[in-house]
Amino acid sequence: MLSKVLNYGQPSLKGTLQIPGDKSVSHRSIMFGAIAKGTTTVEGFLQSDDCLATIDCFSKLGIDISVDGENVKIISEGINAWNEPKEILYTGNSGTTTRLMLGILAGSNVSSVLIGDDSIQKRPMKRVTEPLKQMGANFIGRENAQYTPIAVEGTKLQSMNYKMPVASAQVKSAILLAALQAEGETVVTEVETSRDHTEKMLQHFGAEITVEDKTIRLTGGQELTGTHVVVPGDISSAAFFLVAGAIVPNSTLTLKNVGLNPTRTGIIEVLEKMGANIKTEFDSYKSHEEMGTLMVESSSLKSTEIGGEIIPKLIDEIPIIALLATQAHGTTIIKDAEELKVKETNRIDAVVNELKKLGANIISTEDGMIIEGPTPLQGAEIKTYGDHRIGMMAAIASLITSSPVTIDNAECISVSYPNFFEQLNSVIDKV
Ligand code: S3P
Repeated sequence: MLSKVLNYGQPSLKGTLQIPGDKSVSHRSIMFGAIAKGTTTVEGFLQSDDCLATIDCFSKLGIDISVDGENVKIISEGINAWNEPKEILYTGNSGTTTRLMLGILAGSNVSSVLIGDDSIQKRPMKRVTEPLKQMGANFIGRENAQYTPIAVEGTKLQSMNYKMPVASAQVKSAILLAALQAEGETVVTEVETSRDHTEKMLQHFGAEITVEDKTIRLTGGQELTGTHVVVPGDISSAAFFLVAGAIVPNSTLTLKNVGLNPTRTGIIEVLEKMGANIKTEFDSYKSHEEMGTLMVESSSLKSTEIGGEIIPKLIDEIPIIALLATQAHGTTIIKDAEELKVKETNRIDAVVNELKKLGANIISTEDGMIIEGPTPLQGAEIKTYGDHRIGMMAAIASLITSSPVTIDNAECISVSYPNFFEQLNSVIDKV
């Protein structure tokens, strides 16, 4: 593990960044390309550790995938032509790969075994294996297939009517991907609307799907056809620079190519509510996804309350929002976010412990955190817990600390944002 000293000396930030590809959409572009018949070409693919784990799994299933920077070509004869993998499918640190693969493999005609890294082995899989078992899926795994490694014996699945107990796009997507291979119409009802990239991509690959408020209907047996996918930039990656632009004095940043799917834009709503100088320009609609440019400037911020239906729209942004709240006037309350406990690490504990070391006035609650601001921050030795978003939160914090910040594991950032430090260095104003 590579520790890294972050000593930027209280700079200002100026410039324009081209935000790299969306992680959720990149995973799905490979999965859908492998399920579909024909050739799929992907533009703007995120070459991060998580997305490369997805490619590796499908290569082991015999799919012809070639990667040339941000361009990927997938040639498949469809899900029924996959090879039975001779090796274990390794999903690395990626919850999306693990959970969506369980849904896809359940209704395939191959047998396979999935395993992930130490963090994945602790993350709950029951939320997908239990509903998938109701559709007829065969899983064998630790504690009744609650945790990986999990063996999957592909079989013919039945449709079902499922009311989701948690707001999770991974659970919803695993069920929808299984439903595509199942007999009959599957109906999934969400508790709160979570990111809808799977629904959008199903349409993009030619499937018929109906979405009415929180209810989604999909009839099995539909064949997908290979197509071209444009991946928008990841708003969850842009979020680090949105917050940096708002909290670092004398800064102006322009972020281009950002995905603006309304199920993902909670961070923009929060920044606006907190009084940030932020502007959004929608400029295109490609592969069923909105894209645009975001501009942010240093801002005087006020506290806010975040909870309820906005939580799934910013679930991955909560670590960086917590840092933002340390610089806002008043008490920020984040609630209804207990899902943070089952992310790459327990993000309630990780955020609270590490921001406290930097001098923040923050406490954890059962379902979130309370932050009192503004507080000046100081340097410290920060533990990332191997979690990319904790690493990037600390790196952005270091731009306003009175002394250097050290992070224990800088490599983990490549899970979602391999060129994060390169982009950060490019906007540090040297004058
Ligand atoms: C994701 C869904 C979210 C998110 C994760 C990516 C996806 O997880 O936190 O980073 O691509 O579907 P949950 O479904 O567990 O909320």
